Amino acid sequence: MCGIVGYIGKENPKDILIEGLKKLEYRGYDSSGIALKNNEKVQVIKSTGKIKDLEIKMRNIKVIDSNIGIAHTRWATHGIANETNAHPHTVGKVTIVHNGIIENADKLREKLIKDGIKFNSETDTEVACALINKYYQNDPVEAINKALKEIIGSYAFGIIFEDINDKLYAVRKDSPLIIGVGKEGNYIASDIAAIIKYTEEYILLDDNEVVELSNDKVNVYQGNKLIDKKIEKSNLSIDEASKGSYKHFMLKEIMEEPMVLQRTLNKYLDNMEEIFDVSKYEEIHIVACGSAMYAGMIGRCLLEEKANIKCYVECASEYRYKKVIYDRKTLVILVSQSGETADTIAAMCKANEERIDTLAIVNVKTSTIAREAKHCLFIEAGPEIAVATTKAYLLQAAMFSLIALKAANVKGLEKNYNDVLNEAKNLPKKLKKILDDKEIFMNVAKDIKDCRDAFFIGRGVDYAICEEGSLKLKEVSYIHSDAYQAGELKHGTISLIEEGVPVFAIITDDKIKAKTESNVIEVESRHAKIFTITNDKTIKDHHFRYLVEKISDYFQPILVVPPLQLIGYYTADLRKLDIDKPRNLAKSVTVE
Ligand code: G6P
Repeated sequence: MCGIVGYIGKENPKDILIEGLKKLEYRGYDSSGIALKNNEKVQVIKSTGKIKDLEIKMRNIKVIDSNIGIAHTRWATHGIANETNAHPHTVGKVTIVHNGIIENADKLREKLIKDGIKFNSETDTEVACALINKYYQNDPVEAINKALKEIIGSYAFGIIFEDINDKLYAVRKDSPLIIGVGKEGNYIASDIAAIIKYTEEYILLDDNEVVELSNDKVNVYQGNKLIDKKIEKSNLSIDEASKGSYKHFMLKEIMEEPMVLQRTLNKYLDNMEEIFDVSKYEEIHIVACGSAMYAGMIGRCLLEEKANIKCYVECASEYRYKKVIYDRKTLVILVSQSGETADTIAAMCKANEERIDTLAIVNVKTSTIAREAKHCLFIEAGPEIAVATTKAYLLQAAMFSLIALKAANVKGLEKNYNDVLNEAKNLPKKLKKILDDKEIFMNVAKDIKDCRDAFFIGRGVDYAICEEGSLKLKEVSYIHSDAYQAGELKHGTISLIEEGVPVFAIITDDKIKAKTESNVIEVESRHAKIFTITNDKTIKDHHFRYLVEKISDYFQPILVVPPLQLIGYYTADLRKLDIDKPRNLAKSVTVE
């Protein structure tokens, strides 16, 4: 949600910024803008719609030559998506771009209006801009620090001052922003992918550290004190951050699953001591949003069944506000691809404040959650650009398999520990074989592409898989879809089953397969079209059946979810939709 990129240096920033914005498109946005500065003026250009609309606008006006620039993609929160509300905003001598939410914007706005400030937009960003301008005499760091004292909320700001010709400023709190250190200049960006073409060296900022960038220098201040910061090196390759020959990032990312699974398993299978040992906890709360929560549901099944640990899964937006009773030795596991999801961060803070141990399963190593959780396990998904997560979700589920396997072993509950570890080594190959069957899933997509509703049913871990399969289908194809515990369908929802409605049945768990099968018969006799994915060849093929190899319970979901991801993908493709950026969705949900 919202993307920031900024540059100061010897090159003309215009192209660097536009290219950077394109790399941030995946975050979700509905307008964009750019501010360019030279020794004479600051020029601001904004547009609603896509970045190509901004480019068209820039082609039709005289764009100044410049040496400093900040640019932004906005996902509307305060105020509708129009040009006035788009960033950058300028008040007096200050021009800024902002990612995050200023919670006390209304109060601050009222005060500033009393001081005589006139606001053009409905945004909280313009309020922050006015506040910095209010305190700006000739010391930008002081002005920013004074404004931050009054601002409550989350923010990443890129800031330029009209009368400072050789510096660009930035600051962040609870919103991502990294500082790129380059040879031809220096950068700010919401995410390294936006600037990896120019530099792989970056600095991470802690909350409220103000950074001052010039052509060849980066100064970081805590208050008004200059501090030393470590320069990190990214191992992201330009290839990983681009679509290559694939039609969509989503397809590319699904096809990368065997590779990233291999990379993640290589890291841990021979080093199981690196997997955090959860066996000492009496209770585990898995807290996350969206698909990450559904990966957590697989985790819960495994932790309960295999490691005998009481386990709950909660969506972070509820967990952060509810009364949580921590009356036994509890671990809170946060799951997040981006590590920047606002609700998941808040849930982590809640646990941290209560001095409850936190373990994060994260992809982005530079993220807030990666830095602030007590313990961290990293998946190695690489950059995930499509809004709908696929490879990162799969690795989150795999990480839970490893956590549960280790805990079960430590507790002496797993007799086949070494066999399971050995089996895991072959998992990427097995997964690759399934992805090679893509034509089969394309045909399923042809079969369902015109339907209005779809349902997914399963029990236990199969139900957790259903939730993800259903979410994938609806978020990219816009077909209404719901997942149900198979036994629950008859308590109301079965009234929606009519001739030809696709019902996907996931049946992998031996203990309850006969039960799910009888639920399948219930819907089939009401003329639903049954699509079954199972690891058991004795399960009846009603309309369509896809057989996956039966492997250990720990890793079975890893073979079942990818077919559902491909079905979602191909259905959306046949419906000619904007698959990588579905309407109304953002990749990284940095607001509540
Ligand atoms: C958004 C994305 C989902 C993702 C969820 C949680 O809604 O579209 O794909 O599962 O956020 O994101 P996280 O980065 O915390 O895993």
